[in-house]
Amino acid sequence: MDAPNQGVTSQQIGYALFMSDDDLERAAWFRRQARAVRSELRRIPATGKNADVSVDWVGKEERFLPAEQDWRKSALAAGGDAQASLWASAERVREEVFGKRIFVRGVIEVANFCRQNCSYCGMRRENGALRRFRLAREIVRRVINESLPPSVTDLNFQAGEDPVALKELVLPVIEEIAREKRLGISVCLGTVDHRLYDELRRAGARGYIIKLETGDPEQYRLLQCPGTLEKRLEAIQYLVRTGWCVSSGLILGLPNQTLNQVIATLDLLRSLSLSGCSVSPFIPGEGTPLSSEKAADLDQTLNAVAVLRLSSPRWIVPAVSAMNLCDSSGYVRALRAGANLATINLTPSEWRGDYQLYRRKRWIMTEERVLRAIEQAGCEPSPESWVAASSSFPSLASLLPASRSLP
Ligand code: 5AD
Repeated sequence: MDAPNQGVTSQQIGYALFMSDDDLERAAWFRRQARAVRSELRRIPATGKNADVSVDWVGKEERFLPAEQDWRKSALAAGGDAQASLWASAERVREEVFGKRIFVRGVIEVANFCRQNCSYCGMRRENGALRRFRLAREIVRRVINESLPPSVTDLNFQAGEDPVALKELVLPVIEEIAREKRLGISVCLGTVDHRLYDELRRAGARGYIIKLETGDPEQYRLLQCPGTLEKRLEAIQYLVRTGWCVSSGLILGLPNQTLNQVIATLDLLRSLSLSGCSVSPFIPGEGTPLSSEKAADLDQTLNAVAVLRLSSPRWIVPAVSAMNLCDSSGYVRALRAGANLATINLTPSEWRGDYQLYRRKRWIMTEERVLRAIEQAGCEPSPESWVAASSSFPSLASLLPASRSLP
C-alpha cells in the first residue's frame, strides 16, 4: 500500500487535545515533530502564506478531555465545550492550509441505472419502484453551457454504476468540455474496467470519487457494497497510481457499526494516498432493506469531519447535502467543523427526484444556498478547482512516522 502523504502534524494536535496528564511529557515530542512539518510547509509555494500550520498552541489544551488511547474515539463522541474546541481546531487547521477558501463544485447526476445492489442505497438494482433515467447528451450540454453558476470551478459527473452512461454520455461530454472550458472535471461512476478509467482520464477528467463506505471486509460484504473490499481497494490504488486525484469516504452510523470499525476505516482511508475524503451520515433509504433502521447522529458525523481534517489537513473534505437532511443547518456546521468543499446540484429538476440515494424528497443545494452557507461559515468561494489544488500538493510522507501510536 502506498505511504500516506498527509501531514501528521494535526494528528498530533488531536492527540494534544485529547491527551491525559500522563501524556503531557510526550507533548514535547509532538511539538518538536510539528515544528519540522511547519518549516517544510513554509517551503511549499502552492500553499502560499497559508502553508504555515502553526501548532504553538499544542500543549495548551491537552487537559481538555479525559485520556483515551485513541484520541479519535473521544473526538467522535465529543459534545459541549469539547466539541466546540474540536471544531475550532479543525477550522484553524483548514484555514492554515487552505485559507478561507471553500471549493465549489457543480454536480450533474446523469443516470440512475445501477448494476450494484448496495443495501443502503435507493438506486440499488433491486429497487423496482425507481423510474430509471439516462440524460440525453444535449440536456447535459445545455446545463453546462446555459446554466452553470459562476462560482462553480469544478464539474462532477455522477451516475449509478452504469458503464453505458459512462461510455455513451459521460466520455463524449467530458471530451468536449475539457476542450472548451477551464473547469476541473471529476467523476463518480463506480468500479469499472481499468480501460475505462484510462479513457476518462485521456478525455480530460482528473478527479475520481470512489467511496469505501466501510473498511471492515465483513461489514462491506453484509452491506452488499460493490464487489469486495479488496477489489475496491485495488481500484483506488490503480486510480492513484495512474495519476488521478482520488477522493473516497465512509458512511457513519450504519446499522450495527462499531466504533472500532469506524476507527479501522479511518486508518485504512488514511493509508491510501487520497486527495480527499467524505463522511456521509447514514440515512435509512426508501426502497432499501435498511429503510426502517435508525439514521446517523449528525453531531457524531460532524465530529468525524473534524477528525478527518485534523488527521489529514490537506484532504478535500466535502460538506454533503445529506447533512442538511438531518438538520437544516447541517451544511454550515460541516464547514465549521473543517469541511472545505461545497456542492451545487445542477441536475435538471425533472430528474432530480429519481436520483434517489436516500429518499425521493431531497434537500437541493442551489448556488444561492451554497454561497449563503459559505458566508455563514465565515468563508469565501475558492477561485481554484479542487483537482488543480490537489495536484499541486507534494508528499510529506518522508517527514514523519505514519504511525498513530504514541512515541
Ligand atoms: N446513507 C448515507 N449515504 C448513502 N449513500 C448512498 N446511500 C446512502 C445512505 N442511505 C452515499 C454513499 C454512496 C454515495 C453515492 O451516496 O456514500 O457512495
